[in-house]
Amino acid sequence: MNRREFIRTAAVAGAGLLVLPSGVRGGEKAPSNKLNIALIGVWGRGLAHYGSLAEENVVALCDVNEKRFPEALAKFPNAKTYVDWRKCLDQKGLDAVVCCTADHTHAFVSNWALNRNLHVYQEKPLAISVEEARIVRANWMKKKTKLATQVGMQRHAIPNFNRVRELVRDGAIGDLTAAYAWGDRQIRRPGYLPAEGQPPADFHYDLWLGPSPNHPYNPGYFSGGAGANCLQWNMYWDFGAGQIGDMGSHTMDLLWNAVDAKLPTTAEAKGEKFNPDVTPVECESHFDHPANDWRGPIRVSWYQGGAMPASPKPYIDLKKIGHGAMFKGSKGHVVCDFDSRILLPFGSEADLTYYKPRAKDAVLPDIGHFQKQWLDACKNPSLKTACDFEYSGNMIEQLLLGLVAYRVGKKLEYDGAAGKVTNCPEANEFLSRKYRAGWTING
Ligand SMILES: NC(=O)c1ccc[n+]([C@@H]2O[C@H](COP(=O)([O-])OP(=O)(O)OC[C@H]3O[C@@H](n4cnc5c(N)ncnc54)[C@H](O)[C@@H]3O)[C@@H](O)[C@H]2O)c1
Repeated sequence: MNRREFIRTAAVAGAGLLVLPSGVRGGEKAPSNKLNIALIGVWGRGLAHYGSLAEENVVALCDVNEKRFPEALAKFPNAKTYVDWRKCLDQKGLDAVVCCTADHTHAFVSNWALNRNLHVYQEKPLAISVEEARIVRANWMKKKTKLATQVGMQRHAIPNFNRVRELVRDGAIGDLTAAYAWGDRQIRRPGYLPAEGQPPADFHYDLWLGPSPNHPYNPGYFSGGAGANCLQWNMYWDFGAGQIGDMGSHTMDLLWNAVDAKLPTTAEAKGEKFNPDVTPVECESHFDHPANDWRGPIRVSWYQGGAMPASPKPYIDLKKIGHGAMFKGSKGHVVCDFDSRILLPFGSEADLTYYKPRAKDAVLPDIGHFQKQWLDACKNPSLKTACDFEYSGNMIEQLLLGLVAYRVGKKLEYDGAAGKVTNCPEANEFLSRKYRAGWTING
């Protein structure tokens, strides 16, 4: 039995699923039951992972900014350090990767890690183009029985997510017909920053740019506080997907968890005037989804930067909910934010007698600590994660397709099996992005 098989077997035994000969225990604190993990992007959002990773063996640390190493090494003194994630991923003996880099490298790191049979926790968003989302999802789908994946949409662990799902799924609003999510964050920038100064010697700007086209260095891209620096670069097309990759990932997750959708058959969008440098602040996108085994066809909508769905009642001011979701059914609405929800039945038949809340023992269980859910699944193949690369890949593919519809200004017919727009050839060009020479997503 090799070390990795041992970890998984021990974890299964620890969960009471397998009895091993005496002396082999699956306790989570047992040194032999620890994962060898690479943390890529060690500062900012990376800091939020230190607590759960301290329970494992962090054996590799990678950051393009060498100034970030002393703090990380103080926590993980046995780790080797790297400035290039491609070299880091080739360290022998790795089991898993946590990636907290800038958005334009996410699909690359994830895909390279999957190619090396490593478990992956990828900070959101999983990708910034439709093609990237499809590549990473397809790669994981081939390996899903062996590798655990999770996209960093950690709000998913808030119990309200499942309470909303139960209301919608159990018929509290009758037959679901439409679902809306929105976010009001507005970060306006005119365009890429002008050249200013030189990167410090210990900051590897060329590696930070990675696969994206060259843009001159400006310290403004790196002037934000820990965990909020992404707001300095994620609105530029070559570095992110704007609000879709930012709060959109969290807020669409609140909706996505309740509708059991896969890929849409259409996408249409409108917003402020197109800026070739910067993703839109104000924008709305709409998607048709086919019926599934528990509901009919639905329309899913995303609103950002001030665009909002209509409120079901004048006394409910949806604008007071900065990031929220709403579900419309044949007998009412559910309106929610991340932590709470309201049920608004409507019409003469909405007396709620049609709705039977589920029994206490059928209430969906809490998922517990979100990062730990992934760590547990890395060790025990029978455990699932809430935001694996299929669920999260479908979700982000839909939102990124909305950005394509915004760019071409047309309602798109989408063949999700083929990953092609069927009625607008120019839209297909925007499903992928162009990479700098020397970079490949499939390394
Ligand atoms: N889940 C959440 O709630 C949440 C919150 C904040 C940020 N994030 C996500 O985390 C990511 C990082 O955001 P941030 O604000 O910490 O950004 P950041 O710019 O501070 O980057 C984080 C760290 O990664 C390093 N880094 C960047 N690109 C790298 C690369 N190619 N290789 C190695 N190291 C690299 C940076 O030097 C920095 O130390 C973003 O994708 C963002 O969307 C998620």
